[in-house]
Amino acid sequence: MVQFTLPKNSRITTGKTWPKPEGATNLKTFKIYRWNEESGERPRIDTYFVDLDTCGPMILDALIKIKNEIDPTLTFRRSCREGICGSCAMMIDGINTLACTWGIDEVEGDVKIYPLPHMPVIKDLIPDLTHFYAQHASIMPWLETKTNEPQKEWRQTIEDRKKLDGLYECIMCASCSTACPSYWWNGDKYLGPAALLHAYRWIADSRDEATGERLDDLEDPFKLYRCHTIMNCAKTCPKGLNPAKAISHIKEMMVERTL
Ligand code: SF4
Ligand code: FES
Repeated sequence: MVQFTLPKNSRITTGKTWPKPEGATNLKTFKIYRWNEESGERPRIDTYFVDLDTCGPMILDALIKIKNEIDPTLTFRRSCREGICGSCAMMIDGINTLACTWGIDEVEGDVKIYPLPHMPVIKDLIPDLTHFYAQHASIMPWLETKTNEPQKEWRQTIEDRKKLDGLYECIMCASCSTACPSYWWNGDKYLGPAALLHAYRWIADSRDEATGERLDDLEDPFKLYRCHTIMNCAKTCPKGLNPAKAISHIKEMMVERTL
């Protein structure tokens, strides 16, 4: 697994240690990154104690319990609670992953939680994904066609449909892009693993009729070629996807069309 240390932005201070719940005998310690721009204070690490006997099994259960019962100011994103929406991605015990699918018992010792690394932080565990989403939009994440629309639907053979397996499952959680050193240093121009996986998802779609334009757009020293196959993306993806492989397929297509 990919291990990271601290978020980009911070000289982090020791924060508040919250009281232990009374009478609890099965406690787990959570050390959580806290930052609120409006406070004007430096980021800090707060310490919370969670009674595992009255908590669900996942990291997200613990975060919700802390917010509901200990500290309502703790801020994080979540929605589906089952690994589908991608909103609860954060760095847990040094790994970019989903809080709702990562078990508390998968972490030995204290649970250390930070926002996804190398992204601007809006508040606490919430990264600013504006640029990440803009990059996704830039690859035209839709079916682009030129022929007349069929009466019913754009059809696809079973074999062609299978080519999208390992691509369509991406939930845009940003764990991969924020695990990628190339994206850390060149994220303003390099599209990163998530956007490029999506780019290939549409390039690989037999129904799409804009392959040439899509490849033209990626023919750029930064957008595509800043991938150096470091593979952090594949190691950390909570859905088991392999963006680096998708990127290598795009690079192969770039070569093939010059032959
Ligand atoms: S490829 Fe995996 S890690 Fe990257 S955005 Fe998609 S689901 Fe998240
Ligand atoms: S809450 Fe939706 S993926 Fe975790």
